[in-house]
Amino acid sequence: MSGNLTIVDHPLVQHKLTLMRERATSTAVFRQLLREISQLLAYEVTRDLPLTRVRIDTPLMEMEAPRLAGKKLALVSILRAGNGLLDGVLELIPSARVGFVGLYRDEATLQPVQYYFKVPTELAERRVIVLDPMLATGNSSAAAVTLLKGAGATDIRFLCLLAAPEGVARMAEAHPDVPIITAALDTRLNDKGYILPGLGDAGDRMYGTK
Ligand code: URA
Repeated sequence: MSGNLTIVDHPLVQHKLTLMRERATSTAVFRQLLREISQLLAYEVTRDLPLTRVRIDTPLMEMEAPRLAGKKLALVSILRAGNGLLDGVLELIPSARVGFVGLYRDEATLQPVQYYFKVPTELAERRVIVLDPMLATGNSSAAAVTLLKGAGATDIRFLCLLAAPEGVARMAEAHPDVPIITAALDTRLNDKGYILPGLGDAGDRMYGTK
């Protein structure tokens, strides 16, 4: 953890990420790897969920055991690439509520334009985990978090697969209260706003579009 950024350097995460970066990796394998990595990243993003202690009976004796304290969770996918992280995380936290933020990036200005916003109720009481594989310029991510705060969210984490220094800086400036969890911090953005060395367009690689 450095400041608000946590890089999950677990060997399984790093190995799977390398496979995902490779140009030759097929759409089906890319999607499967993203699902697997999302579950490993989910461990990190939920690491500090509050626990409570409850009395239970094992087959042998009574004991006091830890259980999640019941903090409500909301997973918010930034469309469309966020859905690639959503499926795996939801498998691990099946009772989480799910929201979607639709933002596309204007390729000329690189600024986000909103086209969809649907999130669970009671956001103020939930831990909100925002999902987007690529933290590039940070413009869409910062805009999504601003929208979520406007809807009442106060406890927000940002989960991504790859981050660029520019995106991390943008988020730190706009939302210093939002921790970022990622599998890697890459070198920089190119002039089209793609992360280098990166893995290309996450949505295209996930869904086989161009
Ligand atoms: N979005 C992507 O899918 N890839 C990048 O490199 C940057 C933004």
